[in-house]
Amino acid sequence: MNKVILAFSGGLDTSVCVKYLQKLHNLDVITLTVDVGQDDDFDEIEKISSDLGSIDHIYIDAKEEFVNEYVAPAIKANALYQQEYPLATAIARPLIAKKSVEVAKKHDATSIAHGCTGKGNDQIRFDITIKSLNPNIKIIAPIRDLNLTRDKEIDFAKENGIKISEISKKYSIDKNLWGRSIEGGILEVLENEPLEDAFEYVKFDNNSVGNVDIGFENGVPVSINGKKEELPSLIDKLNRIAGSFGIGVVDHIEDRVIGIKSREVYEAPAALILIRAHKDLEKLTLTSHELRFKAMVEEQWSWLAYSGLWLDPLLSDLNQFIEKTQERVTGKIKVKMHSGYYRVIGRESKFSLYNKDIATYLSNSNFDQTMAKGFVELWGLPSITANTVISDNNA
Ligand code: ARG
Repeated sequence: MNKVILAFSGGLDTSVCVKYLQKLHNLDVITLTVDVGQDDDFDEIEKISSDLGSIDHIYIDAKEEFVNEYVAPAIKANALYQQEYPLATAIARPLIAKKSVEVAKKHDATSIAHGCTGKGNDQIRFDITIKSLNPNIKIIAPIRDLNLTRDKEIDFAKENGIKISEISKKYSIDKNLWGRSIEGGILEVLENEPLEDAFEYVKFDNNSVGNVDIGFENGVPVSINGKKEELPSLIDKLNRIAGSFGIGVVDHIEDRVIGIKSREVYEAPAALILIRAHKDLEKLTLTSHELRFKAMVEEQWSWLAYSGLWLDPLLSDLNQFIEKTQERVTGKIKVKMHSGYYRVIGRESKFSLYNKDIATYLSNSNFDQTMAKGFVELWGLPSITANTVISDNNA
């Protein structure tokens, strides 16, 4: 029998997929779980897979690769889709797809399957990454191909003895080290506030105030509160610290690539704090010209990552530019946290472009104000000229 590699989380969608691949496609299923920091019970997932009759289950610990090759570039790019979503799910998909292609090759599988629906972005990220790495592999997406809906899946699961967890009856959740994405259930009604049961890190009853110091080297967070820390554990710690101050919830209306507007809820305490701190350090160390241009690059970077084009050469082109800018993004940022609110209250860098002697309003400044008069005249020349011409013609 031909073999298929199924990207497997052990949740509702992918459990249903195992049965469909066996029954409808007559394939031997090898499940693959890629650990990107979802903190699941991986023994339990292996058991679910074997109970479903898979011929093999593969676990790959890709946490370091995820953080170094996917999360770090996202931090450097201050990546927030539509100014809000830190892209946790979006950047993990290409890595899972890449691992699936590698495993398929190793096990002589002719196809790769995933549990994405035809309504979301994840199908785009999986399909395009897989095809970019191996155009000959067949992609099977049972939920999309059969036009399955969540209620039908739950019925099918019951009929086939597939266990479903309580939380997956309520929401569709995707988690990794960079954040959690929570969709569906009561959240589909826009008036409904997400209930606390949707969150893992964020505490809503803490009124105390806290500070956290983040050290950066070349754009990458390297220390927390003065202590050197590898990026995966720094993110994990910060998720807990910032979450305990109620920080980390994003609740917004998002434009999916396929044209649907959806209500998306995310929990990403570390991502929000790190991107805010990183942006602040860039404001201190990059020139205004670099910042203005980089903002456009960031917007494009986030769009490529969101829309499944992780392997488009444009993304690596942009990374080259971003990487160059990060040579001076080294320093320390202090963030104050209180009841879901956070702001930068202190910053320092050996590459700081802030010059107190120039900026001060006191008489010890070495800035000669009289130079400004001519500058203002020339700076305003095009606008003043245009307005004069317009009003002359309207007269
Ligand atoms: N809307 C987000 C994205 O496109 C999250 C998708 C999350 N998937 C899920 N199964 N809940 O990246």
